[in-house]
Amino acid sequence: MKINFFTQTPNFKSTGRNYVAANGDEIGCNSWLFRDDLEWNKLAKYEAEHFKNRDKVNIVMFAAADGSEAYSKIISLYETFGEENRNKAEKFFPIMAYDIDNEILKAANSKLINTCLSDRLELQMKSENYENYFEETSQKLDIPNDITLQRQKTLKAKDILTGNVKFSYGDMFEKIKELKDNSNTILMCRNILGYFTNDKIEQFVKSVSTALKTGSLFAVGDHDSKLFDIQKCIEKAGFQKVLKNVYCKI
Ligand SMILES: C[S@@+](CC[C@H](N)C(=O)[O-])C[C@H]1O[C@@H](n2cnc3c(N)ncnc32)[C@H](O)[C@@H]1O
Repeated sequence: MKINFFTQTPNFKSTGRNYVAANGDEIGCNSWLFRDDLEWNKLAKYEAEHFKNRDKVNIVMFAAADGSEAYSKIISLYETFGEENRNKAEKFFPIMAYDIDNEILKAANSKLINTCLSDRLELQMKSENYENYFEETSQKLDIPNDITLQRQKTLKAKDILTGNVKFSYGDMFEKIKELKDNSNTILMCRNILGYFTNDKIEQFVKSVSTALKTGSLFAVGDHDSKLFDIQKCIEKAGFQKVLKNVYCKI
């Protein structure tokens, strides 16, 4: 286990709960809408072009947390394809999203999400009309052991989001062995590897390389490179960097 930056220096937005693993390790469930370590719209454009000849693309998301990441992905794909090409975005759905923490899964499956001011600003900037995706609600989302945010607001995700993602329990170290790819996968496993030892990261990246075929994509996050050269490790395993934190299997 490495130093947990998120508990030492809080750097959270919509969620700050810690998941405690069976061996006592603490892992932050921190996540937020349009987390700023991915170029969301650029990535959606890249994916549209890269997979243009594919009828179906499978997005698999490990460590999905409260749903912020899956919702950001759905919104950026819909916004990139636009109203008139909606059906083209839909070949990327449903996103299969997994997490190991039952409390955060309960939150993700509640259709509610806690947001702070900057989440809501990002949402406005990244979408033509954010009311297409979320609505105001008087319901409150209580996540056990979560932090209290300033100007927090619970929003309700609309069917256009909740209908395009399936949140389930899953341990990424097991799930990666079951992944079936036909060069049409986008594997998002972001801001979780950085919590593990270098050996464990290397072993996981090797499993990803075995599972993914040429042309499939693998995305990580900034937290994964804080104490480890994740880029070198991923490139050594047969991937090429195509965008910030995004790699293509060669
Ligand atoms: C820091 S959050 C990352 C959230 C999101 N991917 C992002 O980048 O914003 C880490 C998440 O990983 C989950 N997690 C921890 N160990 C896991 C495992 N072995 N398999 C799947 N999820 C795991 C935690 O419960 C937590 O929700």
